[in-house]
Amino acid sequence: MNHSDSSEDFKLDLGRRPRRIRRLAALRALTQETWLRKEDLIAPLFVIDGDGSPEAIDSMPGVFRRSIGDLVKECHDLASLGIPAVALFPSIDPSLKDEKGTESSNPYGLALRAVRAIKEAVPEVAVIMDVALDPYTSHGHDGLLDESGDSVLNDETVELLCRMATLQAEAGADIVAPSDMMDGRVGAIRETLDALGHADTAIMAYAAKFASAYYGPFREAVGSAAAAGTRQLDKRSYQLNPANRREAIADALLDEEEGADFLMVKPAGPYLDIVRELREAIALPVAAYQVSGEFAQIKAAAQVGWLDYEKCRDESLLAIKRSGADMILTYFAREVAESIS
Ligand code: PBG
Repeated sequence: MNHSDSSEDFKLDLGRRPRRIRRLAALRALTQETWLRKEDLIAPLFVIDGDGSPEAIDSMPGVFRRSIGDLVKECHDLASLGIPAVALFPSIDPSLKDEKGTESSNPYGLALRAVRAIKEAVPEVAVIMDVALDPYTSHGHDGLLDESGDSVLNDETVELLCRMATLQAEAGADIVAPSDMMDGRVGAIRETLDALGHADTAIMAYAAKFASAYYGPFREAVGSAAAAGTRQLDKRSYQLNPANRREAIADALLDEEEGADFLMVKPAGPYLDIVRELREAIALPVAAYQVSGEFAQIKAAAQVGWLDYEKCRDESLLAIKRSGADMILTYFAREVAESIS
């Protein structure tokens, strides 16, 4: 028996041949379970004062700090592309930062002027605003420090966050997003907003936010690393331990009880088990934040020619959807929406 005879005769007696449905592109399209849609995407945007041209961020190629005028144009483009929402982050002048993050309650502060401008020019885009002190503090932490300077005070910080969320709601934010991980902040913000006539302002809780090294490039973008003099800000006394699944789910469920409208997991890619578990535990929409370091990894590997840029970008996002996220905050939002249309 020669070689060709044997391959003609050799047939496995299989009842199931899973490859039948992968044979043709048409069959693969019919059987695809998860799709990335423009409607799933939220674009994080950085804003700076003045009317200069967009400022590049070294560790986030293609992402810029934009003046308010430019930001409004960008929101207009994003809305025309079909992206439903943006998340705003201010990069304020270092001279405005202090120990207590005082600038966070300035009604004419940068972030509040930016949201007013966006809602006036592009009202159809939903604006999400971060509620946390890190863009405003000289130490880069998300809250107020105690006397010793070692620990972030919980309740005193929550009081400030309530004020910040109220100013954001007044300025037109559609969703406020506490990203600070203080205990009890979602309930306190909900109560404050309701009492002050902002019952329609939604809360997207950074519900399972891990103390991750993947936030490095973002800290460059908003200057919290420069303010603190280190990119390796230690936020482990309030953000979650990357090793802990049960603790993360329990903490996230508290945000649901306290009245959050959306729960977010962050980072996304390294924490897909948490996204899946939360998706199965709750009925609320689940958001995942593909953070700056996840973005930077793909960009950097593609720049040296080690990965196929577009394929890896799309696969990273599709995997986040498959794990159960209803929406994704991603720095790829604009170009992915362009590639889908
Ligand atoms: C801070 C905040 C961070 C991010 C969003 N809000 C960083 C941090 O906790 O230090 C990170 C986002 C990213 O890395 O893309 N409140």
